[in-house]
Amino acid sequence: MGPPVEPAGIESFYLEDRTIEPSSGFRERALISDPGVYDRAEADWEGFWAVQATELLDWFDPWDTILEWKLPFVRWFVGGTLNVSHNCLDRHVAAGRGDRVAFHWEGEPGDTRTITYAELLDEVERFSNVLESLGVTRGDRVAIYMPMIPELPVAMLACTRIGAVHSVVFGGFSSDALRDRIVDGQAKVLVTADGGWRKGAAVPLKANADAALGDTPSIDHVVVVRRTEADVDMRPGRDRWWQELMEGAEPHRAPEPMASEDLLYLLYTSGTTARPKGIMHTTGGYLTQVAFTHKYVFDLRPEEDVYWCAADIGWVTGHSYIMYGPLANGATGVLYEGSPDFPSRDRWWAIVEKYGVSILYTAPTAVRTFMKWGTEEPAKHDLSSLRLLGSVGEPINPEAWMWYFEHIGGGRCPVVDTWWQTETGAIMISPLPGVTTLKPGSATRPLPGVAAEVVDDAGSKVSEGGGYVTLTRPWPSMLRGIYGDPERYRDTYWSRFEGRYFAGDGARIDEDGYFWFMGRVDDVMNVSGHRVSTTEVESALVDHPSVAEAAVVGAKDATTGQAIIAYVTLRAGYQPSDEHGQSLRRHCATRIGPIARPKTIVFTDDLPKTRSGKIMRRLLRDVAEGRDLGDTTTLADPAVVEEIRARAQSAPPED
Ligand code: WT7
Repeated sequence: MGPPVEPAGIESFYLEDRTIEPSSGFRERALISDPGVYDRAEADWEGFWAVQATELLDWFDPWDTILEWKLPFVRWFVGGTLNVSHNCLDRHVAAGRGDRVAFHWEGEPGDTRTITYAELLDEVERFSNVLESLGVTRGDRVAIYMPMIPELPVAMLACTRIGAVHSVVFGGFSSDALRDRIVDGQAKVLVTADGGWRKGAAVPLKANADAALGDTPSIDHVVVVRRTEADVDMRPGRDRWWQELMEGAEPHRAPEPMASEDLLYLLYTSGTTARPKGIMHTTGGYLTQVAFTHKYVFDLRPEEDVYWCAADIGWVTGHSYIMYGPLANGATGVLYEGSPDFPSRDRWWAIVEKYGVSILYTAPTAVRTFMKWGTEEPAKHDLSSLRLLGSVGEPINPEAWMWYFEHIGGGRCPVVDTWWQTETGAIMISPLPGVTTLKPGSATRPLPGVAAEVVDDAGSKVSEGGGYVTLTRPWPSMLRGIYGDPERYRDTYWSRFEGRYFAGDGARIDEDGYFWFMGRVDDVMNVSGHRVSTTEVESALVDHPSVAEAAVVGAKDATTGQAIIAYVTLRAGYQPSDEHGQSLRRHCATRIGPIARPKTIVFTDDLPKTRSGKIMRRLLRDVAEGRDLGDTTTLADPAVVEEIRARAQSAPPED
């Protein structure tokens, strides 16, 4: 078990006492403005979710039982059948909304495409047939490793149409990370692209994929989208061009009726060990909760709003709030391929102005980056179309919240700070913008139908004060397990506190029952809103021939939330140097992806250990964050820490 919730970093939260009421104008037009919704949902929470499933989705067959549960295993809407692509596409087109824009797509170089619901359906039907022609059938896994181009939603929706399970691997991951995920999921087909644009350069996705494919015997075929026109190797018999396959594809394919509990997708996330977990999400419950939360948390008016979730589809935020929630609700979204500073630092604000974005959903790390770039960047554009702002991925500090509220939202847009996880599938704790009094820095309260409590070490509820975040009963979009590893599922989430889901986060509950998240309490770092396991980075480091031992900690960072600090001891014959530090940082990026590149490498002759040989990460965190050391009495050799502290101060800066 990780260290107890530490008080560090929470001081500014305690001082935070600003409150912001929904404006009367916002409240009057809001989809939900009656606070009674919480009590009504609580009185019959299963019934509440059943109403959402009925109102928000189209079912081929109704369910017999709303919920069957024997924790940690649950089944929602048992007996019901539906299809995700039918809910996201066909029913909107059938209702005469085929001409509505599903996505305003913008490539990083400035090329654009407007994709209506009817066009998206057409491509999804064709690609469904392509997948089937490559031998993919119901239940098979399809790996997807793509840039943010329109073919990515097409590939995902086509999987859901034929009942195949997608496993999207973020395009920023390395070939090793891709290989591990393909192997774990035993994917039959990989969909990728020649490359994607990022900061003006082509990211070589197909070349990365080729490096992974040497060790992935389950893959029969690779479909490659032409995007950057980079030269790529196409292996005869295995590799096929997307464009050629689509030209020859049959235009129609009916949506496959799927059971509510059929596997919809796998998405890998970091935990406390080096091995990523294949989080399993199923069909009916997942779609119900993503549609519900997308509609009411963002107060969506699909006929008027232009909604932009500026995440990458490769993360769960993109799955739930670029793809499935918005499309199920018939929303018009923006899809942007590239980075926020290409060609200049006002790119996002140019996009907001150009498409008239009314709802913007992003991460605190982006907000803090924009703060650093200065208010003159957003000020270059007319942002008056915005009416609601969202935040996700990590705690948003009150200063960043206020900056977002004032400089992006012009002081008129509610900011919804939404807490959830890959495992929860959908938003759990968040304001309802027409109801909730906002407090900058707080995700406020569990949504209607959701039950969360903070508990102490012994598992007793804390009504006011700090502790561990738990969820006290099943929710429709909850993970159904870890692919191939039911024991790890039970151990990770359900063994810490009897009958409760353990989220791995610490939080403080204030006098109004508001949640103030304080970050992870286990050995998982949160870098720019993405979870990275300390162990995963450590194993990448010790995999380098020069490294004898490594300890990795997350230290508070003004922009990325946490930064990765690695303490490394070298094998005999290797000398510490700035260049060597850089090569180890590059090594981590190669093994896992740029997100896992340590900000700083501190070379040391020894690591602080207890007498039983456990590395004392708490001390390393204290050093990394420049704090006075706490209790060092269990340390085998207290002098080690002083040496590390001296070295840390002279560590080379990042590039
Ligand atoms: C972890 C989950 C949820 C999609 C993106 C990240 C942290 C997420 C918040 C928030 C405070 C947050 C938690 C959580 N987190 N949103 N609004 N306030 N912390 O998904 O990679 O599964 O990470 O992100 O620590 O456990 P993920």
